Amino acid sequence: MSIDTAAETAAQTATAAASGASATERFQTDKSPFDAVRDTPAERVDLLAREVLAAVHATIRAHKVTYAEYNALKAWLIQVGEDGEWPLFLDVWVEHVVEEVATEHREGSKGTIEGPYYVPGAPEQGARGAVPMRDGEQGTPLTWTGTVTSVDGTPLRGARMELWHADADGYYSQFAPGLPKWNLRGCFTADTAGAFEIRTVRPAPYQIPTDGSCGRLIAAAGWHAWRPAHLHVKVSAPGHEDLTAQLYFPGDAHNDDDIASAVKPELVLDPRQNADGSVTVDYGFVLDPVRG
Ligand code: DHB
Ligand code: FE
Repeated sequence: MSIDTAAETAAQTATAAASGASATERFQTDKSPFDAVRDTPAERVDLLAREVLAAVHATIRAHKVTYAEYNALKAWLIQVGEDGEWPLFLDVWVEHVVEEVATEHREGSKGTIEGPYYVPGAPEQGARGAVPMRDGEQGTPLTWTGTVTSVDGTPLRGARMELWHADADGYYSQFAPGLPKWNLRGCFTADTAGAFEIRTVRPAPYQIPTDGSCGRLIAAAGWHAWRPAHLHVKVSAPGHEDLTAQLYFPGDAHNDDDIASAVKPELVLDPRQNADGSVTVDYGFVLDPVRG
C-alpha cells in the first residue's frame, strides 16, 4: 500500500466510525425528533405510510424481488442503525426533495440541504472577521464579502450568518476526532448596510463516509461517494424566513454528479484568484419576508 493510500484509508476509517455515530447522537439531542410525530394527525400518517409502502410493493412486483434480496435489505437496514448512519443516509438521498418542497414558494435566494453536520452556537465574529481555525490551517485563504437584503432590496442590518465547512481533508469539527471544537465554524452579524466580510479557507471536495452502511450501498450499486467542495451557511433576520444554503466552486468535478443532489446553478460562486494565491468572492443573500 502506498503512503497516500494508507493515509486515505486511515482518514476514511476515522470519518466513518466517528462522524456517522456522532451525527446520530447530535440529532437525538438537538432536534427532539419525536415531537413532530406526536403533532401529526393520524390521517396524514396513514396517507404517507400507505403511499410509501405502496411504492415499495410496486417496486417488488415490477422487478420480482427475491427472498435473498429481501433479507439483504433487512440486514442492511439493521446495520444502518447500528452504524449510526441514518442521518447520513437521509441527508444524502432524501433531504434534497424535502428542501425543494419546503422552499418552492420563495422569491429570494435559493437554498439547499443542511446535511448532518450543523451545530448551533458557533463563536460570534461580528460583521468582519475570520472563522476560528488552527495555526497554519491548510487550504487556500478565502475572503468572502456580501450583503443580506429583503426581497424588496432593503438591507437587513443585524442579519445573522452561520458558516460551517469541512477542512482541507474533508473533516468537520465535532464529528471527526482531533479537531478544535469550533474549527471552521463561526457566526457573523451583518452591519448597518447589511454587509459582512468573512475570512476562511477553501474547503476540499468531500467523500461521505465509505466504510459504513452508506458506503456498502454505494459500493454494491457501483456509485461514487463524492460531494463537491462546499461552504454551509444559515442566514436569518427578524421577520424573514431562515435560509439554509451551500455554496460551491466552479469547475469542481462533482458539481454535476453530487451524491447528495444538492448543487443548484444559483449556488455556484464566481471567485477571483489574487496574485498572492488567495481567493476573493462576493456573494449575498436575499431573504423572503414571513408572510401571513
Ligand atoms: C453529508 C455530508 C455533508 O457534508 C453534507 O453537506 C451533506 C451530507 C452526509 O455525509 O450525509
Ligand atoms: Fe457538508
